[in-house]
Amino acid sequence: MSELITGQKRTARCAEFTEEMVGQKVCAMGWVQARRDMGKIIFVDLRDRTGIIQVVIDEQFVPGDFEKASKIHNEYVLSIEGDLVLRQPEKVNPKLATGKLEIVASSVRILSESDVLPFQIEEANMVSDQTRLKYRYLDLRSAYMQRNLKLKSDIACITRNFFHDEGFLEIETPILTKSTPEGARDYLVPSRVNNGMFYALPQSPQIFKQILMLSGYDRYIQIARCFRDEDLRADRQPEFTQIDMELSFVDEEDIMSINERYLQKVFKEIKGIDIKVPFMRMPYSEAMNRFGSDKPDLRFGMELTDLSEIFAGCDFKVFADAIKNGGSVRTITVPGAANYTRKQIDELIEFVKIYKAKGLASFAIENGEYKSNILRFMTEEQIQKVIEKTGAKEGDLVLFVADKNDIVFAALGALRCEMAKRLNLINKDEYKFLWVVDFPMFEWDEENNRCKAVHHPFTAPKDEDLSFMEERPLDVRAKAYDIILNGTELGGGSIRIHSREIQNRVFNLLGFTDEQAQERFGFLLDAFKYGVPPHGGLAYGFDRLIMLILGLESIRDTIAFPKDKSATCQMTEAPNIVEEKQLKELGIKIADKGEN
Ligand code: AMO
Ligand code: AMP
Repeated sequence: MSELITGQKRTARCAEFTEEMVGQKVCAMGWVQARRDMGKIIFVDLRDRTGIIQVVIDEQFVPGDFEKASKIHNEYVLSIEGDLVLRQPEKVNPKLATGKLEIVASSVRILSESDVLPFQIEEANMVSDQTRLKYRYLDLRSAYMQRNLKLKSDIACITRNFFHDEGFLEIETPILTKSTPEGARDYLVPSRVNNGMFYALPQSPQIFKQILMLSGYDRYIQIARCFRDEDLRADRQPEFTQIDMELSFVDEEDIMSINERYLQKVFKEIKGIDIKVPFMRMPYSEAMNRFGSDKPDLRFGMELTDLSEIFAGCDFKVFADAIKNGGSVRTITVPGAANYTRKQIDELIEFVKIYKAKGLASFAIENGEYKSNILRFMTEEQIQKVIEKTGAKEGDLVLFVADKNDIVFAALGALRCEMAKRLNLINKDEYKFLWVVDFPMFEWDEENNRCKAVHHPFTAPKDEDLSFMEERPLDVRAKAYDIILNGTELGGGSIRIHSREIQNRVFNLLGFTDEQAQERFGFLLDAFKYGVPPHGGLAYGFDRLIMLILGLESIRDTIAFPKDKSATCQMTEAPNIVEEKQLKELGIKIADKGEN
């Protein structure tokens, strides 16, 4: 039975009824969250995205509708007309915004019925991810998901207003486009009209926003959908959203300062928190040396110590060899963990192996005694130096990794965060922002035996490093910056190259021949012949920003219709096979299942 809405208008959303409205005849519409049948009276919690209002359906006031009302089940959609009244004092529910109110129904319409649910809406957080994603339309009814998406909408609105007020124009860029240079795999879309050709979905609007600068738009902003075919993690989706911007006639400081004010506004309006600006700026090399990470979590200490000097040429071959081969021996000092058992240490050894470390040595001071799995290799002098350099005290546990530097940093950087979690050292209410600056321009690509861009090939090298770019490319720093919040990269950007000569030098270092550069980015290089303003920009991961502000574990909870770990949409079952006819039109034949 579905009744019509004809002749009825909603007075307010469920949680928008207020005490000032008491005494009025009202109309409420929504879903049945719960019903309690007391015989001659039925109580219904009527829900919409704002919350809940209690409805009292009393046989004596709705004689014609009572039988109908007795058939109501959860998630039926109702329209209730009635009187808004104050609840009796002992019936007040302080947990509800409308806890002092109820509607005494004078008419009940069932606008739509509901089958028995696969799970109760308020228990959505207790069912498996798989089930939540399959029945996403039900999961999205939960107060949790509705709060998340409401907050995302609010922040989008603050973002648009802020940047509009700062003179930015919102401009759309294409989704069907050519490969963009962010370094992940592209999603490709075959063209029917141009058989055998493919569009790529944008990994970011990077090239278009640079072109907009040279076309004179001065300041651009877009809440832009991006697509990257990469391995998924808790903070990554194949399809995600950036708050993407580009500015002309600016330097790094201009961009950082405008974004500090932006984040300040978001945190003030959304969380009521005053965050202090300017944020700390830390060179990449310092972040790696102190925290083993280019996105350090500054909410706790446990910084790394380099002990290579102490162990150069020592008896423990693993340490000596690591140093001899250009690597290092570094430690973190874990406070109060000297009582870690052999089994617990073994667990940590397994943990660092994820980051390719070959082992983890330990040194603890417990009851004035030294406990270590490398004690037999250390001289008394070395022990004293370790204590001195690491500052280890009674009760502390020093953990060592020796290897190539990138492995040492990755392993100790991750171990530092893991130990902070285990020891409960993280204050969840704290927000520590940081700009990591002076990133290296290039890194070594082992697979292809050449340099590759750390950020992207349009990032400008630092002026003072230009003179040795060809001789020592790995020492060149970029005008690039990342914004870090509590150990997560919220966004990143750079000042771009606006000189053709420097762009060509960078392309050469990246191993592009002139023809290859022309083929991939020819339109950009051509456009750059016609007057380019100095420019730069930044993009936030919008979904990640929401995740951090709300303290969520998964990026999926910020996206209405996300993909699962295998990049599948459980609800629509995309991706899926298509009709033979469509493939034929596209000139495509499925040869085999491809390599994964
Ligand atoms: P970058 O590649 O660093 O820079 O991306 C910017 C931000 O986007 C977010 N992000 C993601 N979020 C969810 N899922 C993903 N798969 C994903 N990949 C990236 C991150 C990241 O910091 N065009 C440049 C920006 C610029 O130079 O202006 C760019 O895209 O939070
Ligand atoms: P072994 O002499 O091989 O038993 O090693 C002694 C200790 O050193 C063990 O706890 C190993 O986990 C640790 N170890 C081995 N390789 C490394 C390494 N590369 N860095 C730090 N510790 C290591």
